[in-house]
Amino acid sequence: MTVNDDLYFRQIPLGPMQNFAYLVGSRRARQCLVVDPAWDTDSLLEAARLDDMTIAGALVTHYHPDHVGGAMMGFQVPGGVAELIGKVDAKIHVNKHEADGLIKVTGVSENDLVRHDGGDAIEIGDVKIELLHTPGHTPGSQCFLVHSRLVAGDTLFVNGCGRVDLPGSDPDAMYRTLTGTLSNLDDDVVLYPGHDYGPTQISTMAEQRRSNVYLRFRTLEDWQRLRGR
Ligand SMILES: [Fe+2]
Repeated sequence: MTVNDDLYFRQIPLGPMQNFAYLVGSRRARQCLVVDPAWDTDSLLEAARLDDMTIAGALVTHYHPDHVGGAMMGFQVPGGVAELIGKVDAKIHVNKHEADGLIKVTGVSENDLVRHDGGDAIEIGDVKIELLHTPGHTPGSQCFLVHSRLVAGDTLFVNGCGRVDLPGSDPDAMYRTLTGTLSNLDDDVVLYPGHDYGPTQISTMAEQRRSNVYLRFRTLEDWQRLRGR
């Protein structure tokens, strides 16, 4: 069985903020991880069940409630990682710089978490999920690279990027993520964003390098000028 035969991958629109959740795993192992299970945990569990897949864990791109559930700044989102681990036996995979924020927003405990460094990988069957630390939108934002698919959370959207004016955001770190970490990805990598904000639901990095202005800054000064600083 080749990797692409084994790969199980679904993009699932959820909630009123045009979020995307994802199921990523191995058909052979019949197990998957769920990326950003906010809004409607039951529908994600049902989607996996209908495909005869078991959800074995959660991957968190970052700790904002529209991705993980919970409450922040008076904003409350149903579902999410706390509800998920109440229904299935699953650990929550989070970047170590995001873990404290995730606990605060969702109420999960340290024992529920696996804290990761950038560069870590998770394997299910023949499928390998690489964890890229991509700070900027939040300190511990991470993207998941799964066999030429980039699950990007709020780091990169189709023709856009995540906000860098929120508490914990770091515009200069976002510049380094966009022009450093993400610039190493091949043209044929397909972008799977955390929100349906673009003209299409997915795109290739080649297309994004042509049409996404946030990938086209040559200097930090140009980036800062755009942002009016
Ligand atoms: Fe966010």
